[in-house]
Amino acid sequence: MDDASEPLSGATAMAQIADQVRGCVLCPLAATRTLAVPGEGNLLSDVLLVGEGPGAREDRTGRPFVGPAGELLGELLAAIGWSREDVFITNVVKCRPPGNRDPEPEEKSACAPYLEAQERALDPAVVVTLGRHSLQRYLPGARIGAVHGRLRRSFGGQHVFPMYHPAAALHQASLRETLFRDVRGLPAALLDARRALDDERAASIQVEAAVDPEPIRDATADDTEQMTLFQEH
Ligand code: URA
Ligand code: SF4
Repeated sequence: MDDASEPLSGATAMAQIADQVRGCVLCPLAATRTLAVPGEGNLLSDVLLVGEGPGAREDRTGRPFVGPAGELLGELLAAIGWSREDVFITNVVKCRPPGNRDPEPEEKSACAPYLEAQERALDPAVVVTLGRHSLQRYLPGARIGAVHGRLRRSFGGQHVFPMYHPAAALHQASLRETLFRDVRGLPAALLDARRALDDERAASIQVEAAVDPEPIRDATADDTEQMTLFQEH
């Protein structure tokens, strides 16, 4: 498959996932949601932002991060010269937990295949986790206070940039500063991740070349002799 067809197939896959999410009834959150919130953004982006789950306004509009937390997220992206249109934004659970309670483990695991499919469709260089639930999905057992603002590698090999959830800063003013400090490290983290991925791709091409079972070779004296024999008969 050539490169030019990849964005299209990624977009098609993402649209199919969104359709499935909008009709999903795989967990109890389906019964209380207004609209499911599949996620949205730039389908060519190298950056996937993963929040926790839709809030009240997201539930009404079907779009991620459009309430107060979304406003702060927009300010954070603007601080590094980015906007929502530069990234893809989604959540661990696609339907609103009633009263904004934490999503239950069964709800998160029921919804996980959608996030996994979105990761495959986008194939981002970096996943930015927003908050605890998103962090746990990529770095199980990690503590946000210890890992925020620096590029990490998940067990699955993904580059992960953990951040506090913007909503937390709405309740705890000191986190606002931390969020802005952390987001300023994101462009450099993206470059580091891209460089690491490029190096790994180059290394795997070298390995493939080294084990190529049928190296191309010039005709040898043996070949010429065989051809001659063939002609003589
Ligand atoms: N908080 C989230 O985690 N996700 C949203 O989409 C909105 C608020
Ligand atoms: Fe389906 Fe996820 Fe919504 Fe549950 S939260 S109903 S698994 S889309």
